[in-house]
Amino acid sequence: MADLVHGPASFSTQANALLRKNFTFQKRDIKSNIRLISVPIILCLLLVFLQNWVNKELDKPWNRCGCKCVGKNDEGKCEEVCGIEYSDLNQAVSCSIPSPLEWPPLLQIPESTYRAVKTDFISYEDLPDDSCKISGSCPATTLLTGTNKTLGESMGRNLFSSGSTVDYSDIFYSLAYNALGSESQTKYLNFLEAAFFSNLTVYNVRSQCSPYFTFSLPLEFGSVSVQQGSRFMFITAF
Ligand SMILES: *[C@@H]1O[C@H](CO)[C@@H](O)[C@H](O)[C@H]1NC(C)=O
Ligand SMILES: *[C@@H]1O[C@H](CO)[C@@H](O)[C@H](O)[C@H]1NC(C)=O
Repeated sequence: MADLVHGPASFSTQANALLRKNFTFQKRDIKSNIRLISVPIILCLLLVFLQNWVNKELDKPWNRCGCKCVGKNDEGKCEEVCGIEYSDLNQAVSCSIPSPLEWPPLLQIPESTYRAVKTDFISYEDLPDDSCKISGSCPATTLLTGTNKTLGESMGRNLFSSGSTVDYSDIFYSLAYNALGSESQTKYLNFLEAAFFSNLTVYNVRSQCSPYFTFSLPLEFGSVSVQQGSRFMFITAF
């Protein structure tokens, strides 16, 4: 029996002693334990607060796509419709555009002052005299290269052919049959094509000039129609 008393303690006694010892240690250090547990809780609360605040800010009318009550249903309640046509400038950026307008392709035409003219070191006979820069009537020059001049010339004529007359029922589709050009620079967002929404001229590029004329182009966005005065000017391509 004496051996048993002095022998190793049983597993449960050891575990019990260890538990008590640890518990006493933790109890003495209660402050740091509270700190340890509260840090993640405080962080979580902060995140919840931030998320709610951001959601609330984003949900304010000026940060949301504009909506309007349209018509009344059977129960007399109006139906809320949201869209770019009901938004102001700030709200419009938040609107989804499920089917954006397809713009006709446009050639990049150099500004009048940068167009090719005859100079001391470039003396091609086909180029215009540099006096056209003063009147702003320089034609845009397109370089077509190849070994067969006849083929090149006929290709150029076809490329900048007269196109079709503008069909007002589908204006952009019919415009795409003409070689259009603009001096405007491509923007990062081209929802509104810069060529049509700047004061710059939209050119109808032709191989042979006719006297130039202007006409206005009705553009439609959703239910809003914009009257854009676009000048179509015929310029010589080569
Ligand atoms: C140049 O192109 C024209 C028109 O396609 C063709 O009739 C003619 O044979 C070509 N000339 C040469 C030298 O390839
Ligand atoms: C376009 O021209 C009009 C009148 O000439 C001017 O009032 C307007 O500010 C111009 N717009 C831009 C974007 O240059």
